[in-house]
Amino acid sequence: RLADMQGLKRGRLRIAMVTTAKYLVPRLLGEFCSRHPGIEASLTVTNREKLLARLAANEDDLVILGKPPSELDVVATPIADNPLVVLARHDHPLAGRNAIPPERIAAEPFVLREPGSGTRLAAEDFFAARGCRLKVRMELGSNEAIKQAIVGGLGISVLSRHTLALEGDAGPLRPLDVAGFPLMRQWHVAYPAGKHLSAVASAFIAHLLANRSGTAAPAPQVAAVVTGPVPAAA
Ligand code: PGA
Repeated sequence: RLADMQGLKRGRLRIAMVTTAKYLVPRLLGEFCSRHPGIEASLTVTNREKLLARLAANEDDLVILGKPPSELDVVATPIADNPLVVLARHDHPLAGRNAIPPERIAAEPFVLREPGSGTRLAAEDFFAARGCRLKVRMELGSNEAIKQAIVGGLGISVLSRHTLALEGDAGPLRPLDVAGFPLMRQWHVAYPAGKHLSAVASAFIAHLLANRSGTAAPAPQVAAVVTGPVPAAA
């Protein structure tokens, strides 16, 4: 216990997260670090595919990702909702229309995330399930760059609604009302099953759980992806 307390006084915390989580996790990490000023934290931001490789190689204390991988044995706990929406410029002809059919959306030029992105995968799966192939006008490896490309008139995209966190409805982008959207996803905090968690990592999980939001908020985990016990706070 003494070692644990010393761990919380000093300690390191190495986290990797998917790009969409950068609209949520840094703020929570900031709060955590101001409560524990001796902790040295590092945060790697990458896409789903690269994150899964890091998770398989056990390179981080914790990872934050969307859908937990079925191919890896991990402990994963939901922390917040991540709704994906179709984003367009505010003056797009489809803005203001209700229940737009996905087929109509698929006829528009798209600015998509890079292959390996979980956001892209979810968007492609949705349209493929309806027999639609997206017209990819441009691929960009950054949510913010895609927002700028939409403003620049290059097309529409599917992104996390959280990408609008700072500007909200006052900005130049609008979610379109597309039938079947938002695609409801969640972010999870995860680590390899059987991993020994440091005191700092356990305390940060407790902080994330104390700040859970959306459908991730109810205390008992019903998401059925948890393959091991959630560590208690140190
Ligand atoms: P991405 O991740 O950064 O790979 O698009 C988002 C997700 O998997 O939810």
